[in-house]
Amino acid sequence: MGIGRVQSPRIIRIGGGVASESADVLQQLGLSKPLIVTDRTLVELGHVGRVTDVLEAAGIAYGIFDGVIEDPTDTCLDEGLAAFRASDYDCVIGLGGGSPMDTAKAISFMLVNPGHVRDYKAPTQIDKSGPPTILIPTTGGTGSELTRWCVITDTVKTEKYNLSGLAAVATAAIIDWEFTVTKPWRITADTAVDSLTHAMEAYVSRRAFAYTDAFALSAMPLIAKHVRAACMDGSNAEAREGLMLAASQAGMAFSNASVALVHGMSRPIGAHFHVAHGLSNAMLLPAVTEFSVGHAQSRYADCARVMEMATSGDNDAVACGKLVEGLRRLNDDLRVPAPSAQGLDKQQYFDTLPIMAEQALASGSPQNNPRVPTAEEIVQLYKDIW
Ligand SMILES: NC(=O)c1ccc[n+]([C@@H]2O[C@H](COP(=O)([O-])OP(=O)(O)OC[C@H]3O[C@@H](n4cnc5c(N)ncnc54)[C@H](O)[C@@H]3O)[C@@H](O)[C@H]2O)c1
Ligand SMILES: [Fe+2]
Repeated sequence: MGIGRVQSPRIIRIGGGVASESADVLQQLGLSKPLIVTDRTLVELGHVGRVTDVLEAAGIAYGIFDGVIEDPTDTCLDEGLAAFRASDYDCVIGLGGGSPMDTAKAISFMLVNPGHVRDYKAPTQIDKSGPPTILIPTTGGTGSELTRWCVITDTVKTEKYNLSGLAAVATAAIIDWEFTVTKPWRITADTAVDSLTHAMEAYVSRRAFAYTDAFALSAMPLIAKHVRAACMDGSNAEAREGLMLAASQAGMAFSNASVALVHGMSRPIGAHFHVAHGLSNAMLLPAVTEFSVGHAQSRYADCARVMEMATSGDNDAVACGKLVEGLRRLNDDLRVPAPSAQGLDKQQYFDTLPIMAEQALASGSPQNNPRVPTAEEIVQLYKDIW
């Protein structure tokens, strides 16, 4: 079975309504003054208020930094660091999707690690930990609340990079699906496909092991079962709960088994063209799966079977074919556009492909893929999905 290495938060509380235990979690950790790192939409939707009401009722003072942008940048991180230093905060609460949670993580570890955040790009491991981080997801997509990863975009080099290590693992995760009912159709679809990609890539990764397999195999059928229902009816509690659980399980899987080629190629699309993370994954998932299936047929066939895209009567090769078809159908149902239909500039896209391929390979993710691509093959895949 091989050796597995797992890092995870000290405290995980999960279930509908569990955000009401936020003050209790802080008290259990002996913390008394959090900076809440979030974005303005979440303030407007009242999600931040749900948590601050709980803190106020417990007599806990707090501050709010609501300047996080989607695909947070190094400059956004600097603003967050300044907000933290402006008072005597003793911990960071990251409340939101991957963008606020990752910003919260980076604020914490950059308080104690000198230099610029790009100095710590993966594969460097950032182990020196800053103030405790309490992460409260509201998208149920990235799984960042359980992962050792953090993604920041460099404004100077137009690059979206991974940061990783013990210092990027939350101290506590408070996972309450009730936040997710306000997600609109597009964000629901994109974040669900992000989770699905985490689970699939963790399962076929060269770094997969029995512990991560269990999480990935649980997450995939939950997403396949609930994603369309959650998109059609945002208030469907069963679907929302299933997707949130799956996002966290997929996070636990890929945090420790790593992602692979889809994520490697997705980050450069996000950095150069500002396509939402889950959407750029979706644009790539069927084509990259088709490119890779032949190199790990039994693993991909398992994915097809647990998601009921293939049956136990199908042999592995047939199941792999049905998986690619099933992912294409899912993209159609979730109205995933090709890059050309998303309004990306054609000339710029094709001119940037060599740099994007280089950045994808440099991230290390493609090297975990069952079929490790060359730079030319990555460029071809980018052309194929255009
Ligand atoms: N650290 C990790 O392990 C990890 C893993 C995957 C992706 N990421 C990164 O996370 C970022 C993407 O995160 P994301 O997909 O969660 O989206 P996000 O945090 O960027 O948010 C996307 C949009 O959804 C809105 N939103 C959030 N919650 C909502 C809710 N409950 N209702 C309505 N609107 C809501 C936000 O305000 C924002 O406008 C990217 O930078 C990506 O690279 C990190
Ligand atoms: Fe992701």
